[in-house]
Formats: sequence, C-alpha cells, structure tokens
Amino acid sequence: MSTPWLDRYGAQRPAARALYAEAKGLIAGGVGHDMRYSPVGPIYIDHAAGSHKWDIDGNEYIDYGMGNAALLLGHAPPAVLKAIQDALGKGFHFGNDHAPMVEWARLIHDLVPAAEKIRFVNSGTEGSMLALRLARACTARNKVLRFEGHFSGWHDYVGRGAMVPFDKPVSLGIPAATLDTIVVIPADLAQLEATLQQDQEIAAIMLEPSGASWGTVPLTIEFNRELRRLATIYNVILIFDEVITGFRYSSGGYQVYSGVTPDMAIFGKIIAGGLPGGAVVGRADIMQFFDYTGEPQHDRYGRVTHQGTFNANPLSTAAGIATLRIAATGAPQQHADRLAQMCRQGMEEILEREQAAAYVYGDASIFHIYIEEYPGSGAPSRAALRTDKAAKLKGIPGRVVTALQKNLQIRGVDLLSYTGGVTSAAHTEEDIIKTLGVFQETIRTLLDEKVIGRVG
Ligand SMILES: Cc1ncc(COP(=O)(O)O)c(C=O)c1O
Repeated sequence: MSTPWLDRYGAQRPAARALYAEAKGLIAGGVGHDMRYSPVGPIYIDHAAGSHKWDIDGNEYIDYGMGNAALLLGHAPPAVLKAIQDALGKGFHFGNDHAPMVEWARLIHDLVPAAEKIRFVNSGTEGSMLALRLARACTARNKVLRFEGHFSGWHDYVGRGAMVPFDKPVSLGIPAATLDTIVVIPADLAQLEATLQQDQEIAAIMLEPSGASWGTVPLTIEFNRELRRLATIYNVILIFDEVITGFRYSSGGYQVYSGVTPDMAIFGKIIAGGLPGGAVVGRADIMQFFDYTGEPQHDRYGRVTHQGTFNANPLSTAAGIATLRIAATGAPQQHADRLAQMCRQGMEEILEREQAAAYVYGDASIFHIYIEEYPGSGAPSRAALRTDKAAKLKGIPGRVVTALQKNLQIRGVDLLSYTGGVTSAAHTEEDIIKTLGVFQETIRTLLDEKVIGRVG
C-alpha cells in the first residue's frame, strides 16, 4: 500500500520505523496491545504533558487517547504527580494493606451509588473477571448475558460478543465450555426479556451502560432504566462496566449521570489516576461473599476468593486518591464535556460543508466518527446515514480507520482508537480549534483519495 500521505507518515518517523523493525523480532505481534497495531507500525511516545504528547521522532500530538481514557486530568497532572512522588519515597510496594487504601475506598464509596463495598483489582479486565465470578457465586448460575459489541476486557468469560461477527469467539484459545456461558444478543429490550424468560442459567447482565465500545453503539438512559427494571423482575444481577464511564460521565460515573443504580459495577482507568488499578463494587449483600466468618467450613468453601500481588498498591492508590479528590468536584468533567461538545459540533460542521458520508456523535467527554467507505451507501443526506446497528457502527473497514488515524497523526492529532477520542481537563479551546483545522484537511484528503464517500 502506497499513497502520498502514507509516504509522508513514514518520512516523518524514521526512528519509529527502525524501532518497529527491531520490535517485530522481539515483541510477539510487534506491539504491546492489539489496538496499537497498524500495518505501518505504531507510534512510539517519548513523553507527554497536559493534552499533548511527543513521539521519539519529535512529532507532537494533541492527544485524544489520554492513556486509553485513563487520564481525566490530562498527562502528568501536578497533583497526581506529587502524590505518586510522595508515595514513592515511602517504599512503593508493600504487599500489605495500608491506610491510604481505606481512604481510596471511602472516596469511591461516597461518589458511586452502587459502591456499598469495594474490592480492589489491577485492571478493568481483572474487575470484569472477578465480577462474573462473584455473580456466579451468589446466584449459583453460570451464564452472563451481554449485548453485541460490548467490550469488558480480554478474559475468556467475555470471549464472544465484542467483535464483528458477534457470534464468533474474539480469539483462538477460548474453551468451548467457557463460550457456552456467554449469551450475546442485540441491545433490544424485547429480545432481552424473551431471553431472560427462557434461560434460567443467566446469573448477570454485564454491559457498558453508555453503549458498546465506549458508546460507539450508543445506548440511552431509558434503555438502562428498563434494563434495571427487567433485571430486578427476573432476578439477575445487573453489572455496569464503568471502566470508561466511571468518574467521566459524572463524578459518580454513569450511575449518577443516569440515575440508574446497578447491583454491581467494575472500574479501571480513571479510578487509579492513570496507574494500573481497578475495582469491583456492589451491594453489601453481594459483596459479603468475600467475607471471612472464622468458621472453617465457610471460610474454605463458602467464599469467593481473590488474590493479587499488586492489589491497591501504594502508587496506584496515591494516584487514585489524588485524581478522585479532583474528580469529586465535577469541574474536570464539566470542562472536558464542554470541549468535546465543541469538537463534535465543529467536526459536524466540516462534514456538512463537505457533504461527506460521515457523522459525529457521542456523550460527555467522548466523540465518535461514523464513516462510510467510498463510494458510500448512496444515502441521500447525512441525516439518512444515522444508524443504531452495532455491526455497522463497529464495522468501519480497516482501510478507512487506518487512513483516518494516520492522516490525523501526520498533522498532529492522535485518537484513542478506531475513529473516536476523549477530551480531558487539560485540553484547551486552542487544542480544539487546531484539531478542527487538522480534521478539515484530513477529510478533504480522504474524499480526494476516494477513501470515504459523499452523500447525495
Ligand atoms: C469498557 C471496558 N471494559 C473493560 C476494559 C478492560 O480494561 P483493562 O484494559 O484495564 O483491562 C476496557 C478497556 O479498554 C474497557 O474499555
């Protein structure tokens, strides 16, 4: 594949090209995370501050990735940096409980409605795994119901449903018996009710409440309200995956934003201030499955067990506390939401002017871009493109995604993944104005090169 922009991309990044050549011989798959893969190699970041980051070739980016959406306050915010430095000086890993862990739990308890009790883990994936173990334990049922396109980490018990086609496993190597515990349906309430009526083995519904893949396939608050009602009627545990929405949609996450309280929720990313960490939270009567009673039979056979060398380690705890104290004010979310709205609106105006077969959407501090590959579906207007189909919204061809991402990177803008991004408290109006200029040039290039189509 060779295009003028791809040549430009490569010419801007000699050090990255050389490093990728070496990395491919050492690192399995060539990259550290599947999402960082692209046919022309990843970008290698050297340092970051606020809303910007710089790669090893000296290219500067306005960053809408924000550490996979873990950095609500931007890169290296002074209060978090200081908290980590202070913790570092006291010894950075004890393998013991420590006083700040209780303070961290107190903050989460006070902010998140479902968090009657908290258990710390090291990532969103660990939270997802543990939440499902807990749900199975307290219902004595084995299955989880998921909606098409929703992502809740990479472990086997969510090994089907996240990727198109939704009925196929997301990976090789997942046991058939495990896949049999995963029920995947479209996000349709009638189908949900029919499934809950028929299948008595469903322990829990676990979803991203804002919609599949951080809102790529959006869900409404009304949908979540109805889901809450049905989960109660059919006596299944409702688990919100708040790994992205937590402390972003509001200081209490999607739960406070929507007024819908799940039975359990999982958190990662922002909860630990950009260091590795996460939590499972939930109703006290569910979370009591972790409790010891001192009665040997119960303590050996009647509990959900959970270990983890780095659970609530001092550095993640310090970063989490410093971040949540600021997140609790609501100020960072307000700022990030306003700038994301400015970005969405500006991008929409550009697409409208160009009559590109694309539209921009998203809630809170998130933007997503839906794009049709050239020549487009023949939709008569941009309004006619709008869809709620998960397979369409999550099925933008790789060629289009790569062309969008790389054209933005050439001009100094980096997305989170796929065709979307997040803003933070560190982004400025100047960043957004600059981004819109870059977006306009990018869209013109993609139209000229017949990567994306026009409407009408
Ligand atoms: C909604 C959602 N759940 C779970 C995860 C998994 O979290 P982690 O990458 O920390 O394991 C992610 C990661 O992006 C996510 O977006």
